Amino acid sequence: VTDPEREWQAEEDVKEGYPRLPASAHKGSRGKGLLIGGAQMMPGALVMAAKASIRAGAGLTTAATVPGNIPSAAGTLPEVMFMGTEEADGVISGIDTDSLTGKDGVAAGIGMGRKEPGRAVIETLLKETKVPLLIDADGLYHLRFLLDVLKEREEVTVVTPHVKEMADLTGESTGEVKRNPFSISSKFARDYGVYVVLKGPHTIITAPEGRQIVESSGNEGLAKGGSGDVLTGILLTMLMQHEHPLEALANGCFLHGKSAELLTAGERTVYDLLPTDVVEGLSSVFRTYI
Ligand code: APR
Ligand code: MG
Repeated sequence: VTDPEREWQAEEDVKEGYPRLPASAHKGSRGKGLLIGGAQMMPGALVMAAKASIRAGAGLTTAATVPGNIPSAAGTLPEVMFMGTEEADGVISGIDTDSLTGKDGVAAGIGMGRKEPGRAVIETLLKETKVPLLIDADGLYHLRFLLDVLKEREEVTVVTPHVKEMADLTGESTGEVKRNPFSISSKFARDYGVYVVLKGPHTIITAPEGRQIVESSGNEGLAKGGSGDVLTGILLTMLMQHEHPLEALANGCFLHGKSAELLTAGERTVYDLLPTDVVEGLSSVFRTYI
C-alpha cells in the first residue's frame, strides 16, 4: 500500500476485523433489518437480497414490497417477515414509517422500478431512517432527484452504484467514471457525506471523509443480473453488525466475491454461476475465511 488513503483489502484484514458471534448471541444482537423493493414485474431482486441478508447472518429480517408479490415471495423465504407497501402504477409508492422503528439497518431500491411514485419512498427513507440506510439500483435512479435531501441527512448512508449508476448520479460520463473511479467516488462521498461502494471487477469503497478500500475478490461469473441484489442483502447485514461502516462494507464485498470464487473453483463455472448460488456459497466462505 503506497497511498495511505487507499488500501487494498487482504484476507487477513477481513478475518481479523470480522465481528465474532458469541455463544450468548440472540436474534436482536445480530441485527434487525428492513429491505424495501420489488415491483409488480420485478419480484426477484427483493427475494435474493433478503435471502442473502439472512444467510450473511442477520437476526431478524423484514421485507417490504407491493402486496401482490408477498404470497410467492413469502413462500420461498419462510424465515423472513413480510410487509405490504402502498402501491401505485405497479410500484411501491409509500411505506408505513412505523416499520422503521426498532430496525438496525434499512436497504432500499432493488427492483423497485423507476416510475415516479417510487421517488417519494426514497425521500421518506432519507428523512425518516435513523439507522444506516443503503440505497441501490432503482433507488439510485430516484436519488439523483433527491440530492438536496441526501445532503441534509445526518445518519449513515450508503450508495452502491455500478459504473453507469455512478455516472448518472454524478452527471459524469461512464468513460469519465471508469478513468477516474477513485476521485469521482471520493468527491461524491465528501460532497454528500455518504459511503460509496462503486461496483465492478474491482470495487472501491469510500468513506465520507475520503478513506478508500479496494476489494478485488470475485470474478466474471458475477456479471449477471441479480449479483448486485445479493450484495445489497449481504451489505445490510454487515452494516448492522459492525460499528465501522467502511470495514463492514469491505467485509461484505469480500464475502460476495469470495463466494463466487469458491463456487467457480468447484461445482460451478463462471458461465453458469447464479446469484442465488452466491447466497448459498456464503457457507463455504465463512468456513474458509472467517
Ligand atoms: N468481476 C468481479 N465482480 C463482478 C464482475 C466481474 N467481472 N462483474 C460484476 N461483478 C460484481 C460487482 O462488483 C457487483 O458486486 O457483481 C455485482 C454486480 O452488481 P450490479 O452491477 O448492481 O448488477 P445487478 O444489479 O445484479 O444487475 C444489473 O443493473 O443497470 C442495472 O437494470 C440493470 O438489472 C440491471 C442491473
Ligand atoms: Mg444493481
